[in-house]
Amino acid sequence: MSDLGFIHHYEPGKSERTLFLLHGTGGNEHDLIDLGHAIDPDAALLSPRGKVLENGAPRFFRRLAEGVFDEADVVHRAKELGQFVESASTTYKIDPNHLVAVGYSNGANIAAAMMLLGVATFRSAILLRPMVPLSKLEKEPDLNGTKALLSGGKFDPIAQTPIIEALAELMRRFGADVTTQIRAGGHELTMADVMAAREWLA
Ligand code: MLT
Repeated sequence: MSDLGFIHHYEPGKSERTLFLLHGTGGNEHDLIDLGHAIDPDAALLSPRGKVLENGAPRFFRRLAEGVFDEADVVHRAKELGQFVESASTTYKIDPNHLVAVGYSNGANIAAAMMLLGVATFRSAILLRPMVPLSKLEKEPDLNGTKALLSGGKFDPIAQTPIIEALAELMRRFGADVTTQIRAGGHELTMADVMAAREWLA
């Protein structure tokens, strides 16, 4: 079977839900599989590998420096990933109503970009250590009916709390129902993130 444009891992589940797993810088399609099982053991999992290489480390879009994004590339890659989700949904019979994005760091940023650009077919997203991926939008997305959990670490030097709050504000302005949780910790994920994601989804 073709890779549908992205090297990816898919595994069927026991419920209607599919988790769309998006790894952080240097990860791959296998990185978040255990996290996916921990968040929802019954869900199917769809996990692509980012195509942009930064010194060999896969990412979902180019950056110019830590926290400084190549926004033209963000737009291009978000659209490309949107097309992958559409093809994968047909191939694996994924129902967009039960598709939940789960992204960590760079993966959370591309998921947020997909939402802000209106190219996300998922209406639910768990964004772990996200940032604001785009400083301007050509058109306003309609995020009514969309839900997002934004999860930050109080001591995270990268996805800092004010940045997460700015993303929450932006999404809310376009109609999204956003829950923000800032917990003790840094950029790395903890069991508390997993438990909170699980509860939020349930
Ligand atoms: C990362 O290391 O992935 C960044 O902090 C987030 C990003 O570059 O998208």
